[in-house]
Amino acid sequence: MCGIVGYIGHRDAYPIVLKGLQRLEYRGYDSAGIALYDGANLNVCKTKGKVLDLKNKMEAENITEGNIGIGHTRWATHGVPNDVNSHPHYSNSGDIVIIHNGIIENYASLKQELTSRGYTFESDTDTEVLVNLIEDVKKKENVKLGKAVQIALNQTIGAYAIAVFDRNKPDEIIVARLGSPLAIGVGEDEFFIASDASPFIEFTKSAIYLEDGEMAIVRLGREVRVRKIQDDTMVVPYVQELQMNLEQIEKGGYEHFMLKEIYEQPSAIVDTYRGRMLVDKGIVRMAGMDDNIEKFTNAKRILIVACGTSWHAGLVAEYIFEDFARVPVEVEYASEFRYRNPIIDENDVVIAISQSGETADTMAAIKLAKSKGAFVFGVCNVVGSSISRETHAGAYTHAGPEIGVASTKAFTTQITVLSLMALKLAKAKGNMSHADFHYHLQELDLIPKKIKKALESNEHIKVVAKKYMNAANFLYLGRGFNFPVALEGALKLKEISYIHAEGYPAAEMKHGPIALIDENMPVVVIATKKGHYEKVVSNIQEIKSRDARIIGIVTEGDKDVRSMADYVIEVPDTIEAFTPLLTTIPLQLLSYHVAVMLGKNVDQPRNLAKSVTVE
Ligand code: M6R
Repeated sequence: MCGIVGYIGHRDAYPIVLKGLQRLEYRGYDSAGIALYDGANLNVCKTKGKVLDLKNKMEAENITEGNIGIGHTRWATHGVPNDVNSHPHYSNSGDIVIIHNGIIENYASLKQELTSRGYTFESDTDTEVLVNLIEDVKKKENVKLGKAVQIALNQTIGAYAIAVFDRNKPDEIIVARLGSPLAIGVGEDEFFIASDASPFIEFTKSAIYLEDGEMAIVRLGREVRVRKIQDDTMVVPYVQELQMNLEQIEKGGYEHFMLKEIYEQPSAIVDTYRGRMLVDKGIVRMAGMDDNIEKFTNAKRILIVACGTSWHAGLVAEYIFEDFARVPVEVEYASEFRYRNPIIDENDVVIAISQSGETADTMAAIKLAKSKGAFVFGVCNVVGSSISRETHAGAYTHAGPEIGVASTKAFTTQITVLSLMALKLAKAKGNMSHADFHYHLQELDLIPKKIKKALESNEHIKVVAKKYMNAANFLYLGRGFNFPVALEGALKLKEISYIHAEGYPAAEMKHGPIALIDENMPVVVIATKKGHYEKVVSNIQEIKSRDARIIGIVTEGDKDVRSMADYVIEVPDTIEAFTPLLTTIPLQLLSYHVAVMLGKNVDQPRNLAKSVTVE
């Protein structure tokens, strides 16, 4: 986790680095710091708290000068969030500064070694060890900074994206990556460095994404020179043209990114299927699948690996693939899969789902699956992300940047891509008639409009949120395709309002959780007409008779649940497999409004970060 930004060029570095850090706060926000070089002095300012706290401190201390700067927003791994543990970190001489996203696992032994040679450490971080190791190598071996960084990194175990600056060589910044993302923006006589392209998108659309195990010397007046960290091989960098624009990453009049992203879902889903779903022709095109269709049609099984919300999308996909394409599907937490010696071979297709494309556990699961011969297909949102490059083939969700830590549009666009994949596979395997296939495409095409309709319940959902915002616990129930939606609804509430919530298959209640029910327990039940409706209605009766407060997510015009529930929130009708795309919407809005009413930081909930690049 953590976000890093750097600038070297002719402009003032401070506003660029500061704004860049604000855009990267989704990656961590417990402390922040910036180092600026003004041609004579190397000034570092850092503080516990948000980037805004850093801004206030830097402006109060008048540290804003310089055309070279590096900055960091932190999600603590080693050492509590405080001023001293914040980045950038200095070497003992005060000459070299570093920012780091990742973990140096063998930092303790390196620290011991450096301490025995007289180095001292102010912080508890692994990063301060790395910067001193670089200094030590530079002095001992009498090499330039780039070489010292390379030698030092070859002594480390762990993950990193780093930027290193030496006041004795003030025309360059050295960067390197292994396991954490790093992009270099290439401008006219200027360079930008960042964890993703958002900090420099208004300055340049040309970017180099370093691959794992690569480092680069970013020097004024020179081309970026990239080489392999391990063996010094030179690499010709691929300069990529970026497609995102600034508007896509700003709030656009909404109070929070999360709300903006909830409302973006109709257009995000259209972006997801545009050019892929040709309704009139009755075709689904998806290059990554078209090129490998036999891998899919011959697969004995599909295995889905993911974490968090992406794992919930995977669970929905399990129902969809099995229903449409009649292929067995297993869904695994990537963090469990990677450590349990799974049985997997070249007859398996593995689908890895990740919004960020950087989740460390998902990445490790992919590598394991590949090593066992499986074909791995990625479903990612962030273009050029590590997972999208590590997989054999894939499909982007094209949801646009998702900044709010709580995933919303990533979930529905993932389900959209996975639905298209399942339909395509069903057709290729001859498990769905053309008429049925065509009917499903038509239904999927109607989803954006229906989401817009579901969003119209926003004011009503605020009333429900107000009523239950002080509850200590919530239960979410669903069956079939909507069981994963219950899990997702509970996760959304937990992560942004800090209210304990659990998702359950509705019929499991009687096997234990029903004991929790009393008049203080709000129970959100997904009870759409398509999807075991009568069974769910019976489940509602069971909990109603134990005095629960019931909030029903129902199909427009529903009468039965309305007669039993305290509140109902309606969504339009659709085929059962696509109901999650609609029932999710009120759950997102409910959690959003509860969190806002409780005064929580919706976009940056405590203890979390948007992309989890550590184990
Ligand atoms: O970027 P990924 O989709 O791989 O992220 C996986 C999870 O960390 C993520 O979905 C997390 O659970 C979200 N905060 C949920 O809203």
